Amino acid sequence: MIIAIDGPAGAGKSTVARILAKKLGFLYVDTGAMYRALTLKILENNVAISDEPRINALAQKVRIDLRNNADGSLSVILDGRDVSLEIRQARITQFVSDVAKIKTVRQVLVAMQRDMGKRGDCVLDGRDIGTVVFPDARKKFFIDASKGVRVDRRFKELKGLGQDVAINDVEKDLSNRDKIDSTREASPLRCAPDAVYIDTTGLSIEQVVDKMLGFIK
Ligand code: DC
Repeated sequence: MIIAIDGPAGAGKSTVARILAKKLGFLYVDTGAMYRALTLKILENNVAISDEPRINALAQKVRIDLRNNADGSLSVILDGRDVSLEIRQARITQFVSDVAKIKTVRQVLVAMQRDMGKRGDCVLDGRDIGTVVFPDARKKFFIDASKGVRVDRRFKELKGLGQDVAINDVEKDLSNRDKIDSTREASPLRCAPDAVYIDTTGLSIEQVVDKMLGFIK
């Protein structure tokens, strides 16, 4: 069974997706982490974000694995190396939306995501899971929240990772990514017509997870 979770940055998708997957005993696939891992590879190879032919060449040969750990955390493995922390850095966040709008990059990563979904019961989160990657997913959710709450959540998350960020910069980054993710030509962020829309603005993580479980069972 596939559970698709989409929504904008900072809405709390990954947190609830991870908890839901653990509760259900499903595999958790963080598709945003895959776009981030490829972005890291591009920067490490000194390839310009505008150089689509070289980016496509890197995308064709990249190996990205997602490991679900026993404690519920996720390890992101890029070509055999654990990059779970590195992909959360500001330099990756700054460029990832530009990488994610390249059509051929999306084709390669979507194919990987579909393969992962074939391994068994799966919760996937991203921007296009219910609309493009698994349009036939058994359950689809669109997780949203007000802009202010999303900025606040992302700010706290980055602080929790030990990053010295200013809330103004988080706000700017979120607005910029919202714009690129929802206006790009290839698979823009959309709520699938058959998705359950949940506004998490005034809700705790537990309340959101309970709501979702209610729709799944
Ligand atoms: O969820 P996140 O912030 O880790 O995602 C990073 C970027 O990747 C985000 O700006 C949009 C892009 N993305 C995407 O285009 N499609 C997905 N399925 C997941 C993420």
